[in-house]
Amino acid sequence: MPHMTLRNILIHPDPHLKKVCKPVRNVDAKIRKLADDMLETMYDAPGIGLAGPQVGVMKRIFVIDCADKDGAPDPMIIINPEITWVSEDVNTYDEGCLSIPEIYEPVTRPALVRMSYLDADGKSHEDEFDELYATAVQHELDHLDGILFIDYLSKMKRAMITSKMKKLKKELARD
Ligand code: NI
Repeated sequence: MPHMTLRNILIHPDPHLKKVCKPVRNVDAKIRKLADDMLETMYDAPGIGLAGPQVGVMKRIFVIDCADKDGAPDPMIIINPEITWVSEDVNTYDEGCLSIPEIYEPVTRPALVRMSYLDADGKSHEDEFDELYATAVQHELDHLDGILFIDYLSKMKRAMITSKMKKLKKELARD
């Protein structure tokens, strides 16, 4: 993947992170370049998922890699995702987010989801995701609708985390 560029990851609170993103109209070279940059930025952070609005691109695209640390990489580029089915069974994971660094809180979501999406070639897929993959695709899809994992926490906890992030942003701006 030549000429990849690291993109700046926006930190909560930021208006980009609260908006609904627009569908990708054409899966073209510009979108493929964006996806490659997003993967590079995600691996560099490091993280297991990154969505368009986190790098200020208000389009319905995200990337994930939920492979075991010791296993082969499993990068996925997911464009215009739609959930077509969710299980009644739920799973709880300690979630984190590159836009809310170093905060981890348990979030309960459907354990299995089916999602339709386009890949980086514009080809359509419908796959079932389980375990960490299920949580990751739901967390990333939420980003495309302006929802953060802290929106599932209590108002008090969310306010505490938000003030911590405001402080962090001030520190980062000073450096
Ligand atoms: Ni996130």
